[in-house]
Amino acid sequence: MKKKIFLLSAAASLFIAACALNDGVSSEQIGLRKIALENENKIVLDNVNYNETQPGESALVERSFENAPPLISHSIEGMLPITTDNNSCLSCHDKSIAKDVGATPAPATHYYDFRKNKSTGDTISDTRFSCDQCHIALSNAQPLVKNNFKADFKDENSKKSSNLFDVMNEGVK
Ligand code: HEC
Ligand code: HEC
Repeated sequence: MKKKIFLLSAAASLFIAACALNDGVSSEQIGLRKIALENENKIVLDNVNYNETQPGESALVERSFENAPPLISHSIEGMLPITTDNNSCLSCHDKSIAKDVGATPAPATHYYDFRKNKSTGDTISDTRFSCDQCHIALSNAQPLVKNNFKADFKDENSKKSSNLFDVMNEGVK
């Protein structure tokens, strides 16, 4: 008898679960964006203000972890999109110009083709051309998910500069 009741209730729970599945989950309910997948390009961030400090006047931000792409410390108003004919980031960060304008030069990794294993000379590597693919502007957006990550740096220097090119093969035999 007990076995029958158990089987019956198991069947009932399965039935209820199946009904719930049938209803489905709308795409607004999944993910953190709370917007239907077909409207993804209409995402508007609530009350977010971007950093308005002009290049030359901003304070550098500590790296998120060793050799992380640094956050853009200044406003990028009017600099995007980056196109083949117009990359304003390079007008200050190109290694031949940066020192004169007080900007951090794009590092050695950005002038190297890791697929062909050779330097790209004075021209930025194609894979680094779209700076905003990896470097992002500062805003006052609050994290949607709490994050307790704390970076460990090997030394004080790596909190504010990178040496990836020199340590690229670290640990590789
Ligand atoms: C008019 C010159 C200028 C332009 C254009 C410019 N920057 Fe900068 N950038 C600077 C200067 C100068 C600094 C150093 C901080 C300061 O003095 O404000 C800097 C800092 C940075 C940093 C932080 C570097 C570090 O060591 O932490 C990043 C990343 C950066 N810029 C990326 C960009 C990107 C990406 C673009 C294009 C969207 C861009 N910059 C356009 C001048 C410029
Ligand atoms: C594919 C991702 C990627 C792209 C694209 C990219 N960067 Fe970087 N960038 C990084 C990473 C990762 C680092 C830190 C490690 C290193 O030095 O390579 C970095 C470091 C830097 C630094 C700090 C250098 C230092 O000595 O501390 C500057 C400045 C910079 N990038 C500027 C640029 C500019 C300007 C562009 C576009 C022309 C660009 N980056 C494109 C990933 C990228």
